[in-house]
Amino acid sequence: MALRNIITDDDPVLHKKCKKIVKFDENLAVLMDDIIETLHFVDNAAGLAAPQIGILRRVAAVDVGMGVIELINPTIIETRGKQIGQEGCLSYPNRYEDVERPAYVKVRSFDRAGKPFFVEGEELLARALCHEIDHLDGIVFLDKVKNLYRG
Ligand code: CO
Repeated sequence: MALRNIITDDDPVLHKKCKKIVKFDENLAVLMDDIIETLHFVDNAAGLAAPQIGILRRVAAVDVGMGVIELINPTIIETRGKQIGQEGCLSYPNRYEDVERPAYVKVRSFDRAGKPFFVEGEELLARALCHEIDHLDGIVFLDKVKNLYRG
C-alpha cells in the first residue's frame, strides 16, 4: 500500500472521463488499497476517486464513517428527492459550496473480485456516492455550482 498524491489546482485530469475496469486483478486491488489509504490519511474526508490520484479508471472509495465502500464501475440506478448542502472535495482544498444532490440514491457497483452489489444511501452517503461517481465522468462539484468563479 502507498499514499498517493492528490491532484489539485483544477488540473485537466479532473475533467476527463474515466475508463471502465475490465480486469479485476492484482493491479486493481493495489489501486483500491492506495485510494483507501490516501482517503483515510485525510481527516474528515468522505471519498476519493481514481482520477484524483491521476488514474483515469472507474474506481472510487466512499467512507462517511460507516466503513469504507469500494466502488468499481459504479452506476446510479435510482434516485429520489433532493437535498441541498455544503460540499467540499480533496482536490479543491478550502472550497465549500452548496450543491444540490438527490436525497436518496441506489448504486450498482462491482467489488474488487468482480462481483456485483448494490448500495443505497441517504443524506451524506447519497451526497458522497454522487460526488465520487461524478468524478469518474470528469465532473467536479464546482461544475454543479452555477456562475461560480473557480479561483
Ligand atoms: Co471530490
